[in-house]
Amino acid sequence: MKKIAVCGVTGAVGKEVLRCLGHLPFGELSLTCYASERSAGKEVQTPFGTQTIERFSMEECRGFDVVFLCVSGSFSSKYGKQLSIQNEVVIDNSSYFRLDDDVPLIIPEINLSRCKGHRLISNPNCTTAILAVALYPIYRQFSLKRVIVSTYQATSGSGQAAMDELASQTANYLKSGKAGHRQFAHPIPFNLLPAIDRFEANGYTREEMKVVHETRKIFDDDSILLSTTAVRVPTFRAHAESVTIQTQHPVTPDAVREILQNAPGVVVKDDPQEQVYPMPLTSTGQYDVEVGRIRANPIFGECGLDFFVCGDQLLKGAALNATQIALQLFDANHFKQ
Ligand SMILES: NC(=O)c1ccc[n+]([C@@H]2O[C@H](COP(=O)([O-])OP(=O)(O)OC[C@H]3O[C@@H](n4cnc5c(N)ncnc54)[C@H](OP(=O)(O)O)[C@@H]3O)[C@@H](O)[C@H]2O)c1
Repeated sequence: MKKIAVCGVTGAVGKEVLRCLGHLPFGELSLTCYASERSAGKEVQTPFGTQTIERFSMEECRGFDVVFLCVSGSFSSKYGKQLSIQNEVVIDNSSYFRLDDDVPLIIPEINLSRCKGHRLISNPNCTTAILAVALYPIYRQFSLKRVIVSTYQATSGSGQAAMDELASQTANYLKSGKAGHRQFAHPIPFNLLPAIDRFEANGYTREEMKVVHETRKIFDDDSILLSTTAVRVPTFRAHAESVTIQTQHPVTPDAVREILQNAPGVVVKDDPQEQVYPMPLTSTGQYDVEVGRIRANPIFGECGLDFFVCGDQLLKGAALNATQIALQLFDANHFKQ
């Protein structure tokens, strides 16, 4: 029987980790649900029955095969390393360890083998993960020089409270013509916010630079030039990204369509004449990342390509990726190393 703990079960990511544990073929497992003292004693519905949420404590959280951290960077910074000593494997959804040289940053479709010998594993940023599953098969075939990305990121990327704010403030706006804001710097209903996370000295936001640094680490290639503009949009769930690439070798839309049709974790939705393309509403709740609007980009000549991706950032961008890592480590007997 696999022993699994989820820290942060009441949050946007934690809830999806519970669902994925129920969907993926883990077999029999015993589950412990942790959150803060605010939630301790409350009940949570899980695919394995109703469970009582426990207040997280370092003393109690030990001896698990896998601990999923779905809390915050400061929580992971405080507890992550020690948890990986007193449990078999810790999979962290926060950004804290992602660029740590000693911690692998994993997307199973790309670099699962880098988990070998590690007990602490980092899950990538949601925007990065969605981009990377679509980009990697193209990178393998044509190599990449430049990647320019503009994102359209759902409110749930900022957690449960941000989603709730979109709902409540949209209702306020429709009723009174005014919307307030707490989770965001400005009202989010009927608006776009080109600022996700704090601004860095170079004028980019931290979210934008995560895409740059994490993509390079996952692909193990620091030569790729990337630039991102990250924008929060008033949707509940699923991030969309407009992507322009310059490849090293000549590329065609047909060749990329064929490669992506056979790529794991990707579904090609590309029939513009029939209004078929990736959208948040169709990718919400889906495991695969949608890719479409694949077309030649004249700016980079025969090496230029544009496409649009959309993926459920709570799934491939967080919970699904984390649980896929765990499942594949169980399958590979990682825990007996
Ligand atoms: N949202 C996304 O799309 C996404 C994608 C990728 C990665 N991430 C990362 O995943 C992590 C979780 O994000 P989220 O969006 O799920 O946040 P969230 O909705 O705000 O949930 C936070 C969770 O952490 C729990 N928590 C807070 N303080 C705690 C403590 N001291 N001990 C134990 N549990 C505590 C909360 O429990 P209470 O209800 O008891 O307060 C809640 O369950 C973050 O690091 C985030 O950056 C998020």
